Amino acid sequence: MIVTGGASGIGLATVARFREEGCSVAALDRDEAMLARCGADHTRVCDVADEASITAAVDEAAAALGGIDVVVCGAGIASRGDVVECSPEEFGRVMSVNVRGVYLTCRAAVPHLRAAGGGAIVVVASQLGLVAVPSAVAYCASKGAAVNLARAMALDHAHEGIRVNAVCPGPTDTPLAGRFFEETPDPAATRAAFAASTAIGRLIEPEEIAEAIAFLASERAGGTVGAALVVDAGYTTR
Ligand SMILES: NC(=O)c1ccc[n+]([C@@H]2O[C@H](COP(=O)([O-])OP(=O)(O)OC[C@H]3O[C@@H](n4cnc5c(N)ncnc54)[C@H](O)[C@@H]3O)[C@@H](O)[C@H]2O)c1
Repeated sequence: MIVTGGASGIGLATVARFREEGCSVAALDRDEAMLARCGADHTRVCDVADEASITAAVDEAAAALGGIDVVVCGAGIASRGDVVECSPEEFGRVMSVNVRGVYLTCRAAVPHLRAAGGGAIVVVASQLGLVAVPSAVAYCASKGAAVNLARAMALDHAHEGIRVNAVCPGPTDTPLAGRFFEETPDPAATRAAFAASTAIGRLIEPEEIAEAIAFLASERAGGTVGAALVVDAGYTTR
């Protein structure tokens, strides 16, 4: 299996979760230093937004592992700002990683899944693909697109035995979230506010998202196709 964004946060927890099950895991990420410590069987530095880079990385991973049956699209970036504050460059940067990156990863991986006789793709979207928050236009737009990209791919490839689903995490305690908190005037207060935004009064652990990804990727989820599985600790329930 391959995990993009496997060097950190939810992707890193996903690498560990699948390694526990005895799966051979390839982690693809742009962060070379973090990638070296992720514990995957195979690693490759790449940029999911660059067609040549991600295609070569997926092909190399398939060769190294002897095929691919599961793909987890975990690479993603956050962004703040309303429609005026968010520059065209920033909007394009976020869409190119969070949407085009998923498209390019799946475009490279589907032929390998076909060769394996089927498999599963899990797109890591967000609860902000289903609802919006103030001052995050690019991120909300990108995650809404990621959810519907997963649904569209699900319909196209189910007949080939390739199940595609999205997982929609809520506020999860990862380096991405930490950087987001640090950019606010009072990081501790922002962290506390996000913890309070869930029904369980704390941030979600990346391992709790990895558990949902493991389910979606498994044969136990044989009847789950095109779902946007919400794992947000009640964030969108209110
Ligand atoms: N943390 C949260 O609260 C939260 C909530 C909802 C959704 N998500 C989503 O979950 C996914 C993982 O986020 P995380 O919180 O674990 O973040 P993270 O920053 O800890 O991990 C993301 C990883 O993606 C990699 N990456 C980023 N851009 C890349 C690119 N162009 N090419 C290759 N690798 C790239 C980074 O190097 C990093 O290792 C993201 O798509 C994010 O939007 C996170």
